[in-house]
Amino acid sequence: MRTTSSILTLSLLAGSYAVPHVQLQNRLPGIEWADCPPELNAFDPHGRTFGCGTLEVPLDYTGEIPGTLNLDVIKIPALKQPKKGSILFNWGGPGGDGLVNMASASPIVQPITGGEHDLISWDPRGTGKTLAYNCYPNATDRAATLAWHHAQLANASEAALGRTWAEGQILADDCGETLKDVGNLVGTAFTVRDMFQIVDALGEDGKLRFWGFSYGTLLGATALAMFPDRIDRAILDAVQNPMEYYHTFGDPEMYTDTDETWQEFLKACIENPNACALAKHASSAGELGEKIDRLIEDLKEEPIPAGQSIVGYTEIKSLMNSKLYFPTHYRDLAEQLELILTRNTTAPAVLGDVEDPEAAAASSPEALFGIRCSDKFLRTDDLDLVRAELEGQLYKVSAMFGDAPTNIITACPQWNFAAKERYSGDFRVKTSSPALIIGNTWDPVTPWKSAQTVSELFEGSALLKHNGHGHMTIAQPSACTSKHIADYFLAGTLPQPGTVCEPDTPLFHERPTAS
Ligand SMILES: *[C@@H]1O[C@H](CO)[C@@H](O)[C@H](O)[C@H]1NC(C)=O
Ligand SMILES: *[C@@H]1O[C@H](CO)[C@@H](O)[C@H](O)[C@H]1NC(C)=O
Ligand SMILES: *[C@@H]1O[C@H](CO)[C@@H](O)[C@H](O)[C@H]1NC(C)=O
Repeated sequence: MRTTSSILTLSLLAGSYAVPHVQLQNRLPGIEWADCPPELNAFDPHGRTFGCGTLEVPLDYTGEIPGTLNLDVIKIPALKQPKKGSILFNWGGPGGDGLVNMASASPIVQPITGGEHDLISWDPRGTGKTLAYNCYPNATDRAATLAWHHAQLANASEAALGRTWAEGQILADDCGETLKDVGNLVGTAFTVRDMFQIVDALGEDGKLRFWGFSYGTLLGATALAMFPDRIDRAILDAVQNPMEYYHTFGDPEMYTDTDETWQEFLKACIENPNACALAKHASSAGELGEKIDRLIEDLKEEPIPAGQSIVGYTEIKSLMNSKLYFPTHYRDLAEQLELILTRNTTAPAVLGDVEDPEAAAASSPEALFGIRCSDKFLRTDDLDLVRAELEGQLYKVSAMFGDAPTNIITACPQWNFAAKERYSGDFRVKTSSPALIIGNTWDPVTPWKSAQTVSELFEGSALLKHNGHGHMTIAQPSACTSKHIADYFLAGTLPQPGTVCEPDTPLFHERPTAS
């Protein structure tokens, strides 16, 4: 099946873009579905075979560079017939693996959607096998570089920020050199266009049904803003402030609730002494918090060797930050912090999750930098401007985790190219059907405030508060939230203003090994 369409003319209605008005002859060959490989099908509790296929899309939507690109697409078939139109998923990052994440999360998300839709995901350009964002020729090279790149969080010492800034320039230059021909073809706006190519190729009603998590909400917000007339359903779950994403160095609003989320961890720990290894070290959350604060300051001055690694300020902060994303990891976090607190460095578990450069190198971590940095409008070679945002804004938003984005804030301002197309509007649109915006009360990286902000931007959208912890609603599930999501996908029903959903299981009560 081949049809011709001119999607650029549609986009131009929505605002001004840095894209020349070129008419493309877009071939839409459709998706040829085949069976997915066993390792993807293995995730299915129903023993089904998933569909895997590829879709040819334009390499360069401006038309300057001829050629096409193949997107790898996965389809989880609907559980019930007759089925409704497909729902597309994006798993965040940016850089998350679309196929593996879709297959592995389908047992959780398919029942939540009501089971009447095919679920579709794909490896966005820059990830998987599609223009993979490799700034280094091979994993060995990448590991060697990452082992010292971005080693320090800014508040580790007086010297840390300057050093990480210099490392950020090296990363930016490495990527600029390696990707000088194709790097600018990777960015969110082109990914939005790819997404609508998938919608078109599915041959349904030509409308987008979407559930995006974390960075997936940024992709979703950009899609809604660029193509407001093509939206049937859109759930933005764990919302990033899109104006900050495009127009700040380090997205300060992201950390609005991080300190509060940490306090919740401490409180729940003291309330659940049998499940929280740290509880025996204090009689109140306040006292425990002070102990950990002191530990962090001690590690700044005197890090602890553990095996061939070192547990210092950056390692403990990174551990805490990443584990706060998932309540299923809270027991582990407590155990690891206890080992560090008691200087029990013989236990191999101490460093279990502290970043392993080999593991990081096996995946392609540059995608996260590449996509975020290429999307951002701000550039500077003046470290003082960056320091002002970091210390003047981020440290005020979060006294505990304000330096978490040190790697982004030191690399992106020095990025030496930009995505060929970036959405530059203000996101104030009315979509053809209303979006559902969902935020957690205690999310360490996508705060409730950003969900409110985005809901105000998209006219007619509804806002649902998931009164849970961690990053994304699925981190601490709620039957109430799931019901609202199903009602929305199945019937377009929106929650009443002010709706709040409670999670099913309190902190430290979930099965310890689930994740
Ligand atoms: C990795 O790339 C570097 C630089 O091109 C090269 O010198 C090295 O031999 C490569 N290593 C492997 C294991 O391929
Ligand atoms: C250190 O941690 C290990 C593993 O949790 C534990 O078995 C051991 O008893 C601890 N050692 C000390 C001295 O507390
Ligand atoms: C930076 O460190 C100082 C103490 O050394 C602390 O008071 C402040 O809260 C820290 N800020 C962040 C964002 O880590």
